[in-house]
Amino acid sequence: MSTPPPPPPSPSSSSNDSRTTSTEAVTGIIISTVIGVVIIAVAYFIIRYCIIRLRLRSSNSSNEEEQVTARMGTIRSPSSIAVTTMNSRIGTEPVEKFLKEIMKEKPMRFTPQDLVDFTQNYGKVLGSGGFGIVYKGQFLNGLPMAVKVLNSNMNKRAEEQFMAEVGTIGRTYHINLVKLYGFCFDKTVNALVYEYMENGSLDKYLFEDGNHKIEWGKLHEIAIGTAKGIRYLHEECQQKIVHYDIKPANVLLAANFTPKVADFGLAKFCDRERSFETFTGGRGTPGYAAPELWLPISVTHKCDVYSFGMLLFEILGRRRNLELMGAAAVATGEQSQEEVEWFPKLVWERFEKGEMRSIVAACGIGEKEKEKAERVCQVALWCVQYQPEARPTMGRVVRMLEGEEEIERPPNPFQYMTPFPQSSSSSWTMTMSTATADSSSRERGKAGDESEITLLGIERI
Ligand SMILES: Nc1ncnc2c1ncn2[C@@H]1O[C@H](COP(=O)(O)OP(=O)(O)OP(=O)(O)O)[C@@H](O)[C@H]1O
Ligand SMILES: [Mg+2]
Repeated sequence: MSTPPPPPPSPSSSSNDSRTTSTEAVTGIIISTVIGVVIIAVAYFIIRYCIIRLRLRSSNSSNEEEQVTARMGTIRSPSSIAVTTMNSRIGTEPVEKFLKEIMKEKPMRFTPQDLVDFTQNYGKVLGSGGFGIVYKGQFLNGLPMAVKVLNSNMNKRAEEQFMAEVGTIGRTYHINLVKLYGFCFDKTVNALVYEYMENGSLDKYLFEDGNHKIEWGKLHEIAIGTAKGIRYLHEECQQKIVHYDIKPANVLLAANFTPKVADFGLAKFCDRERSFETFTGGRGTPGYAAPELWLPISVTHKCDVYSFGMLLFEILGRRRNLELMGAAAVATGEQSQEEVEWFPKLVWERFEKGEMRSIVAACGIGEKEKEKAERVCQVALWCVQYQPEARPTMGRVVRMLEGEEEIERPPNPFQYMTPFPQSSSSSWTMTMSTATADSSSRERGKAGDESEITLLGIERI
């Protein structure tokens, strides 16, 4: 007996299978849609949460942001974003912190009209110097600035250097350097826009009578801060910068009297109008300029060390190195012979005789500061050494001033100098004999074995 063949698959079972398959497919689609929606929803909530947190964090500065938006209309600069960052932070974080944040930014380019707006049509003059006139101004958010409008006698080469240097200056950041916010370079106006320094320049506190007195301990801190600023220019910043014009007028004081070196990088591209007129092709300011700036000797960063030494003497004595009313003042008793004398030389003479204490006491510096003052005295004598190589680096100057490095006894910085009787009792003569002068000086002294040069650096002008 044969077994019946298996029944052919019924049409109903085949349709059941295909129904099951399509049900699974639909379920799959639904599940993946649900998962997708859940993922999107979670991502949405995470993003929203982050945005809310960010908004909460910056809510304190919303007012400033509004002001910035308003100001953006006046600055047509591609780097105005830097200002946005800067301004939105002000008020919530210390100024130093936000300056650090913008340090990587290039300085902004302003138009002449921007400067007119900032300075309210150049309404307030802060002062003037060899490079031009300085005006007070402010950004729309109230951040003050100092606008230095440069003398208009730039030649083509100087103009090119201006652009190159502005880039360099704008990228230097140090607590002891005045920050460059931006510049204006135009056919009609060349100007630099700096951070505003509330307490003006150091010369006011050293030389002016009246209410501008700072106690000597603070002056010592100012000396160290200034030295650190110059050290940064010489040794630490990307492109080394020689200042060429270190002097109390170029040390500006912030609201808390933090010293900041101003005008670095300017000497290269600016023709000065006043301070340089006694020099032929030289740089610097009489009284502070190193000998090599007016002699055909190669000039290095050590010329700044010399000028800093002169500044140290003035900090020590809280007087100009040459305070001269003339021989008549001595005759009438208005001034003593010592006061008329050039202070650095006077300091050396006392130091040589082992009377450093008496200088310190004569400068009115109290017991508490005596040790620091004696250090300042010796460091100053090292800085003004005639030979640039004999002067310390600014790094060593800082260490010596801070008492981290022992100070060797300085040699006589003024051995090439003898008093020179002229009509003005302030004139000295530097005598360089071929036996003692360095090789380049010797070359310069071809005219004779011994040559005399009036030391313009200590002439009163
Ligand atoms: N950033 C600033 N903030 C506040 N005041 C400033 C600023 N820059 C300059 N000044 C003021 O303007 C005055 C003139 O400065 P300026 O640099 O033009 O001349 P100077 O320092 O006397 O000579 P030099 O041309 O050799 O630098 C300073 O003495 C100071 O009082
Ligand atoms: Mg200056």
